[in-house]
Amino acid sequence: MKKLLLTLLIILNLTSLLASESKICQRCHPLIYKEYYNSIHRKSSLKSDKIYKALFEKEKQAANKNECKVCHSPSAKTQKATEEEPISCIYCHTITNIQEHDKQNKNVLSGKKRDFYSAEATKKEQGEVKYETTSSLFGLIKSSKNSPYHQIEYNNENYYNGNVCMGCHSHASNVHGFDVIMLDAYIDKKDKETCISCHMPKVMGSKTTLRDSKTHAYHGIAGLHNLSKDLGKYIDINVTKNIKGFTVNIVNHANHALFGQAYREGILKVKIIRDGKYIALKPYIFKRTFGRDGKRSMPFEATEVLKDRLIYAKKSIDYDVRLQKNDRLIITLGFQLISKETAKELQLDKNKELTKIKILKKESFTF
Ligand code: HEC
Ligand code: HEC
Ligand code: HEC
Ligand code: HEC
Ligand code: HEC
Repeated sequence: MKKLLLTLLIILNLTSLLASESKICQRCHPLIYKEYYNSIHRKSSLKSDKIYKALFEKEKQAANKNECKVCHSPSAKTQKATEEEPISCIYCHTITNIQEHDKQNKNVLSGKKRDFYSAEATKKEQGEVKYETTSSLFGLIKSSKNSPYHQIEYNNENYYNGNVCMGCHSHASNVHGFDVIMLDAYIDKKDKETCISCHMPKVMGSKTTLRDSKTHAYHGIAGLHNLSKDLGKYIDINVTKNIKGFTVNIVNHANHALFGQAYREGILKVKIIRDGKYIALKPYIFKRTFGRDGKRSMPFEATEVLKDRLIYAKKSIDYDVRLQKNDRLIITLGFQLISKETAKELQLDKNKELTKIKILKKESFTF
């Protein structure tokens, strides 16, 4: 057994020189690797993300271009790595702490290649764990604990409260020092859900092939690129009638503004079904309009926000259409990755997938 393990380790050591870093993880964490491979964190590079590439090319200041890579492809040392793992498994799992800065935060890495942070409430007290083998019944039954390839540190709070995401996701400024991410995310100890529980929920399947576990944290990243309708459950929609018409109230349970990414648009559509006929009301668009010298501009050249129609904790939208008895309201909350207007400006209008309206949540009410 020991010999076998030694050979295994040697093989893994050798391949680590040849293959990409994350490929090594694939051997023992195939499910997680597969999800990661389709995730936005594996596709955040110029090669894989057309929107990012278009903006990168518009960005005129060379100095600022290098800054893009700090978040979009921090672990890519070679051309191949840029394509395959711009934000690698090891990168995320070795973030020790987040340094806060005005322009953008900074990830502080441990620099260790075989020692990873993770979260597991039942093991938090144990701190750092190493591979252990035990034998009982005079060596007839052998068992092992933890990973033969790496150590694990379970006591880094950043992996429990979601702060590990905030090195890249808190804020990013354009050349004018103006923040264009502005998710306005706020981590509070009292929050029931975190960045991790909402965007990396526990899904079926084992964490590793070496030991059975029922579930693992979803590494495909539930979001808008890999659309997860489950995200809709963190947004409540209700309707109140009033003398003028009615109000649609949207309650946001996330700890950040919805549709906060500078190029996104959220869309609320309301349809009334009355006597078998459809009445479609004017859609409401959730977005921020960026500006410079009082005129509309692209976010990367902006110095101000002209109009802010995002959803923060809650938002109410009034409609001046009187509801009648037996009216049915169909309400859909959807989004576009980029608006048609932006698509034109970025010469991405041929790619219909980017401007397609996708649905996050649908509700119906009868009066
Ligand atoms: C030789 C097999 C093997 C390889 C290779 C391997 N791991 Fe693991 N890993 C394990 C085992 C076994 C566990 C322990 C799981 C448990 O205790 O339930 C583990 C646990 C983990 C955990 C913590 C899981 C938890 O319980 O929260 C992380 C994070 C992790 N591995 C990351 C990686 C990364 C990143 C790589 C690639 C650089 C990698 N592993 C390569 C076998 C491996
Ligand atoms: C501080 C980290 C950081 C820096 C620096 C940064 N970004 Fe980003 N960028 C992000 C994050 C995080 C997201 C995802 C946020 C979201 O979707 O709300 C993102 C998303 C984007 C998107 C949307 C991509 C899509 O598929 O919809 C574009 C475009 C983009 N960034 C362009 C750039 C460019 C160009 C630069 C350099 C001038 C840059 N970013 C610098 C963190 C950063
Ligand atoms: C964007 C950052 C990020 C990347 C990239 C990433 N992970 Fe993770 N990973 C996390 C976080 C955060 C957790 C803790 C989730 C939790 O609460 O259990 C985690 C958990 C894990 C676990 C434990 C799973 C569980 O259910 O507890 C393993 C194993 C793991 N990661 C391996 C990998 C491997 C292998 C890769 C690359 C294929 C990878 N990770 C890429 C952030 C990341
Ligand atoms: C090294 C920087 C970095 C870290 C750390 C990081 N992200 Fe990201 N994340 C990005 C970038 C860059 C993008 C946008 C990529 C693009 O669109 O090209 C992104 C995109 C996303 C998106 C948008 C997905 C979508 O479908 O629109 C979500 C959600 C997300 N990240 C969640 C997380 C969570 C949760 C964590 C912490 C466990 C995390 N990220 C850690 C850089 C990072
Ligand atoms: C209670 C659940 C919840 C929590 C907690 C949460 N999110 Fe989200 N997140 C959502 C929902 C719902 C959306 C989809 C609507 C949207 O795009 O804003 C979303 C969207 C996103 C997006 C994509 C935005 C875009 O327009 O592309 C990013 C990036 C993101 N979240 C990052 C984070 C980070 C980082 C944290 C932790 C600070 C976090 N989220 C915490 C529910 C959550």
